[in-house]
Amino acid sequence: MDVMDVIRSRHSVRRFDNRPIDKKTADLLNEEIDLCNKESGFHFQLITDEPEAFEAGKPSYGKFQGCRNYLTIIGPSKKEEDAGYYGERIVLKAQELGVNSCWVALTYKKGKAKGNILPGEKHYMVVAMGYGIDSGVAHNGKTIEDISDFKPDDPEWYRNGLEAAILAPTAMNQQKFRFTRNGDKVKVRVAGLGVHTRVDLGIVKCHFELGSGKGKDIWE
Ligand SMILES: Cc1cc2nc3c(=O)[nH]c(=O)nc-3n(C[C@H](O)[C@H](O)[C@H](O)COP(=O)(O)O)c2cc1C
Repeated sequence: MDVMDVIRSRHSVRRFDNRPIDKKTADLLNEEIDLCNKESGFHFQLITDEPEAFEAGKPSYGKFQGCRNYLTIIGPSKKEEDAGYYGERIVLKAQELGVNSCWVALTYKKGKAKGNILPGEKHYMVVAMGYGIDSGVAHNGKTIEDISDFKPDDPEWYRNGLEAAILAPTAMNQQKFRFTRNGDKVKVRVAGLGVHTRVDLGIVKCHFELGSGKGKDIWE
């Protein structure tokens, strides 16, 4: 599947059916997780058939229903941007494999979340995963002109990167980022210093790179 098709089809899903993630899919997802862990020094782990983080004594917790699988985001501290960047790579691999997801920083039981935390590591958040009852809906979003200095005669790769960026998930759909281009280099800034803002920045950079077809050396 074309990467833009994967990006366009991803929406946050909070209601899941009871089907477990099948072994072949979990193996492929774990391959991407291993790659991301090697590249980033993170300790992402796929937790399956563990309802407690989204149950908390009730059949559902927060806005979630039937969530029994999640990606736990564990890694070195103060690396929020990497948590977002690599976490989103895994989210998009999941989407390609037909597994729906939702980033979750707040509306889950953090204390009940499983995952092996080594000395010096921290648990950032989770991404709920599974087969959705529906595939979610497109968020109301900004235009590429809202989030950048884009002009109609700008290069195609810049437009494509921005198109992918506006489809990125951000905490509370804030989309508080702004792109500027200087020749073949791009800068992206996020407003605010919050933890989730830095995670959002990593997610948005991941989308821009995939949409534009450029690598990490695009960043000024
Ligand atoms: C860092 C981060 C944290 C989030 N935390 C939560 C959360 O605690 N609960 C929740 O229901 N959604 C959470 N979301 C999902 C966002 O609300 C969602 O991505 C946004 O509204 C855009 O919608 P979309 O993902 O369908 O495009 C989070 C998203 C991100 C990127």
